Amino acid sequence: MTGTAKIDQTISEKAKAFNLLAPPDDYFDDPSPYFRLLRDGDPVHQQEDGTVLLTRYDDVRQVWRDLSGLVYKGEFFEKKFGKGPLLEHHTSTMLFRDNPDHDRLRDIVNPFFSQTSIKSLTDFTQDVIDREIKKVKQMGEFDFVRDFAFRIPVALICRVIGIPVEDADYIQGVGRKVLFPLNPQVSVEAIKQGHEAVTEFMGYLLPFLDEIKARRTIDPSESILCAMAAAQRNGVEVSDAEILHMCIVTLNGGHETTTNLISQSMHFLMDDPESKRQLVEGEVALPTALEELIRFITPLQLQGRRTTNDVELASGNGTIPAGTEVVLAQASANRDERVFEDPDRLNFARRPNNHVAFGAGIHVCLGRPLARMEAPIALASVLKELPTLVRNGEARFQHNTRFRGLEELPVRLA
Ligand code: HEM
Repeated sequence: MTGTAKIDQTISEKAKAFNLLAPPDDYFDDPSPYFRLLRDGDPVHQQEDGTVLLTRYDDVRQVWRDLSGLVYKGEFFEKKFGKGPLLEHHTSTMLFRDNPDHDRLRDIVNPFFSQTSIKSLTDFTQDVIDREIKKVKQMGEFDFVRDFAFRIPVALICRVIGIPVEDADYIQGVGRKVLFPLNPQVSVEAIKQGHEAVTEFMGYLLPFLDEIKARRTIDPSESILCAMAAAQRNGVEVSDAEILHMCIVTLNGGHETTTNLISQSMHFLMDDPESKRQLVEGEVALPTALEELIRFITPLQLQGRRTTNDVELASGNGTIPAGTEVVLAQASANRDERVFEDPDRLNFARRPNNHVAFGAGIHVCLGRPLARMEAPIALASVLKELPTLVRNGEARFQHNTRFRGLEELPVRLA
């Protein structure tokens, strides 16, 4: 990097020593002090694998917007994963495709995330939530993540894709193995499991696609699988493998992040009686509160981009040379005190709240209208129907740098 502005020497040394590829254990409980250190001491952080980690809001947004189309990571992933199904998956979905392929794939599924489509899912969502609330009321003691938060997004995304919700646990297990190798540093075993999981997931999905393709007529509005099969039949260039990879990425994106949002929202609200009171007493509108929770939690913490030309950071933080793999830390951007006052505090009155938790540019989160519909309904129902919910043991965070999520959140009804 060139031209980096002058920074306090001690903070700079500490920040330079930080290694996202092997973060300290307490990073997973709360990464925010480490991100603050990086923002202050080494905002353009060179890592030992050659990637550059950006942590300041302005830098993250600039690279996201300017290079929003440049995500293909074939060479980088091949070095990391080797050849095989995992490489094929992470180079075939729209998440890691540049245009025109990105838009070709995204255009087929976009209608499922329009305001009208999402609105039509509201009653179904409330029914799922009511059913799950009833179950946990009977349980009395339960794990808020596994027994409640996870059940809602997975039911919704299974319906949108067109697969049975009864397979939810299987989908979560296999999906995690596909996603985990995207973390900055992973074991050989995790990569092996990732390859196997992609093959298994595609094998699971294929019979559903085959059944639809055998139909005489396909209704594209029925499900994402139907929409993709219908598009293929109508001459849109999309292969069977692309359809299956699309379902995997949408299933994964559709439940992991939103589960983490719903469960962490309750986790933090239980420690913040004033914010909880504001919600319970209707002092703040839930959609407004939700945006602050999304900023505060940032369920998807990191993103990758590759520069194709030298990028001079407008902040004056230096120039990133062409051909650099850049890691954007939106989790850090959303806590940047240069943009958000008192950023480590939940503040439902925060205005403006231009967080970047859903990304920016052409890859901006496809499912954000779905998350923005389901999470407030889930939270409102929990606050109303389970008013005596209290902790029943230690919450535990996953050891995952990309997806910040709770492994478990033991609770009980007092
Ligand atoms: C709070 C919940 C969610 C968060 C924080 C979140 C976050 C994100 C972010 C940051 C991106 C941009 C990735 C990039 O720029 O490389 C993204 C993309 C994506 N998200 Fe979400 N997401 C959430 C919920 C969902 C849901 C419910 C779905 C269900 C369909 C979904 C599906 C996707 C897909 C398919 C993409 C790839 C879009 C593309 O490459 O064009 N996400 N998400």
